[in-house]
Amino acid sequence: MPSHLIPANRLWQSIFHWGGGLVSDGRNRTCQIFALSAAFPRQEAPVSTGRERISLNLGWRFQRSTTSPDNLSYTKLKQWILPSANNFIVDTTKQARRPADQPDNVTIAQPSFDDSSWEKLNLPHDWAVKGPFYTGSNAVIGGGMGRLPIQGVGWYRRSFSATATDKAKSVYLDIDGAMSYAMVWLNGKLVGGWPYGYASFRLDLTPYLSVGDNYLAIRLDNAVDSSRFYPGAGIYRNVWLTKVSTTHVGQTGTWISSKQVSNQSATLDLVVQVENAATGGAKAEVDVTTDVHIFDPTTGKAGEKVAQFPSGIATLGAGQSQSVNSSVTVQKPRLWGPRPAQEPNLYVAITRLRTGGQVIDTYETRFGIRSLQYGNDGLRINGQPVYLQGVNQHHDLGPLGSAFSVEAAERQLSMLQDMGCNAIRTSHNPPAPELLDLADQKGILILDEIFDTWKSQKVRNDFHLIFNDWYEADLRAFLRRDRNHPSVVIWSYGNEVSEQGGGKSGADTAQRLEDIVREEDPTRQTTVGMNSATADSAFSSVVDLIGLNYQGEGRTGSAGSFSAFRSKFPNKMIFSTESASAISSRGTYLFPVTSASSSAVKDGQGGDSKAMYVSAYELYAVDWGASADKVFVSQDRAPYVAGEFVWTGWDYLGEPTPYNSARSSYFGIIDLAGFPKDRFYLYQARWNPNVKMAHILPHWTWPDRVGQVTPVHVFSSGDEAELFLNGVSQGRQKRDQSNYRFRWDKIAYQPGELQVTTYKDGAIWANATVRTARQATQLKLSAYRDRSVIRADGSDLAFISVTVTDDKGNVVPQASGTITFSVQGPGTIVATDNGDPTDMVPFPSKDRKAFAGLALAIIRANEGTTGTIAVKATGTGVQGGGLILKIA
Ligand code: GAL
Repeated sequence: MPSHLIPANRLWQSIFHWGGGLVSDGRNRTCQIFALSAAFPRQEAPVSTGRERISLNLGWRFQRSTTSPDNLSYTKLKQWILPSANNFIVDTTKQARRPADQPDNVTIAQPSFDDSSWEKLNLPHDWAVKGPFYTGSNAVIGGGMGRLPIQGVGWYRRSFSATATDKAKSVYLDIDGAMSYAMVWLNGKLVGGWPYGYASFRLDLTPYLSVGDNYLAIRLDNAVDSSRFYPGAGIYRNVWLTKVSTTHVGQTGTWISSKQVSNQSATLDLVVQVENAATGGAKAEVDVTTDVHIFDPTTGKAGEKVAQFPSGIATLGAGQSQSVNSSVTVQKPRLWGPRPAQEPNLYVAITRLRTGGQVIDTYETRFGIRSLQYGNDGLRINGQPVYLQGVNQHHDLGPLGSAFSVEAAERQLSMLQDMGCNAIRTSHNPPAPELLDLADQKGILILDEIFDTWKSQKVRNDFHLIFNDWYEADLRAFLRRDRNHPSVVIWSYGNEVSEQGGGKSGADTAQRLEDIVREEDPTRQTTVGMNSATADSAFSSVVDLIGLNYQGEGRTGSAGSFSAFRSKFPNKMIFSTESASAISSRGTYLFPVTSASSSAVKDGQGGDSKAMYVSAYELYAVDWGASADKVFVSQDRAPYVAGEFVWTGWDYLGEPTPYNSARSSYFGIIDLAGFPKDRFYLYQARWNPNVKMAHILPHWTWPDRVGQVTPVHVFSSGDEAELFLNGVSQGRQKRDQSNYRFRWDKIAYQPGELQVTTYKDGAIWANATVRTARQATQLKLSAYRDRSVIRADGSDLAFISVTVTDDKGNVVPQASGTITFSVQGPGTIVATDNGDPTDMVPFPSKDRKAFAGLALAIIRANEGTTGTIAVKATGTGVQGGGLILKIA
């Protein structure tokens, strides 16, 4: 079981979430959450923490219409929505005032509304991912946004109950992400909302709460042309109900930073924001104490106490908030650092508020102790240089859409880490909070990015429509939510915004955002992904770090060079916020093969616009990008460059450049289903060079190519390689510093066996073999990481791959027959996929064509069940395969 999860049967105990408390699903049942548990021995009565954080993920009713069914647009109700942001608007004169009256009654939001005919579902939920895909050139939602039906209005309804004790408390709704323009009613009254679909936000339910049943109604509204990529649709992240005493630690109300960090000691600065949400009554006086514990990643619990901040006192009148600051020095701190060279050690601070000796609130903050230095020669963490071997990741999880799943995100990160990736740019929006928890635990660096657009649009309904009203609240809320995560090492407040070229006015907007970051977090530096700002643009001077998209990496055309930025900003760290944008279809090789190390794709040159495939020789890129090989060479020539974030780690929904009629991207190093493309091994050879690996491409099953030139390329961190075709040497090659692949470009295809031996410093390093496959005869199933145990908690997932093989077990690389998946026992097939961007079969389908010999099924165990699930895959003319999943 992953360390961040705790078994359901232990959840009868009081549980702290970081920044959380007692967890149940709101129907008096406990549920699996991403949690830290405080160690309460079983027999002892739970100590009151003063705080409950209850998952509201289960038991919703949902309805969606593709057109706008009502007159409840954000524009109309904006006056009631804007005040939801007031905690994040620092100038109080600019805070919005809520109208004294409620807007008109909304029938759907009334407690009496009969929603029994609506769909029943649990969160996280993405209403669009089940499809069907829109096809054709006039699709309502085109290729850019993934051809999935995100548009229209979706309503979610659910009830929960509250006691008289609850009524005396503050009760908040915490939504980690809802796409988009969320507006929330409780018991028929409009509470507030938050338009930006990637934001996590809190609404105060207290004034509208009733003793007994309470009815939540949430309206979301997605416009067409609202994004350049797939945004998802619905309440796609977790939702919580937080019950606290009226005097409590505020929303994301702690901030711990470290200074004077060494292996000997570190000083921690703590700010606790205490709020008194009472509407009247006497002043509240509270003692504020915070203990620092080691976080034990194996139990997910707070371990040994190592320090205690000096206590403080907050005295607050009704409606007031106050920050209590303190510092403490920790001796011999266990530092947090990125893997593999360092260890991601974590701590937990437990803050308690007491009145009259009674604990009235308990709040946990997980954090790490580390130092950051941004030099003109790169990034240092705890004094050690860390070269950025990063990738960009969009928020969707392929066939699961945007519905967040810890298991799916964990799979993405683990595979990237195996490749040697040490950093993620959350292009171009705030990620799920749990993604940062995973990065903290796995020792992965995060470039945390918030916006793709500012005031100028990229598409007609994107964030520019609300930038002026919301940028401050969105940016401050994002920074306060994420700043305790040690994994976050760079803030980005924009990507390729048009304001780059806007002279003074663009630079002024950047400066305003920069100033907000400085106010909220003086410890980290900032960037914006710049593709057109030159070294001389006013814009480039505003950001702390020069983050370049495609500039400097060796493409032809008008890109700026690393050296131009270096001369202008000799003291700033320079790196690629986006590099490469190389494209390929996994396992699909097109001929002829360019002799260059990088080529823009077009028909006959790595591309086939009819079939919509791009050659997997991994030499092709969009015309503003470059192959991985070429990027590596340009980085080697500019050793002061701090590294890169490749566009992209995994394929994602939407943006199927260069073939807009497809559904998902070609940029990924790993395809949408999670199968590595050949490029994976090119990056692994450079980024994880200790792995003794050799990888041959293409496959060697070409019945129509006998005698034709079929280049063979090999990726390996070895420095020499010898290739054999049917036992005959095709030559031994040495690889110099400027070559990242071994290539034998003149091989005439003959069926049989290709074998390569690579060497390092004269000694054998790694071998690889590919054989010509015979006819497909069987389907072989395997579970991701051989994990054939699954929890029946409603969230855990098993990822089952099918390989089409011949009678000798060789992968049949062009197999494309339909595979039918089925399960016996208490399991559900959530989605299937094959990583083919042109496949328009909806993701929930149980039938999935193999693509280049592979397909994937994602299985969930039905909640609360036991026993085993038999997963089967069958296909015409082949022997089916099976696998047993055991429910933990
Ligand atoms: C960049 C952009 C990314 C993605 C990429 C594809 O210009 O910032 O979001 O569109 O191009 O190459």
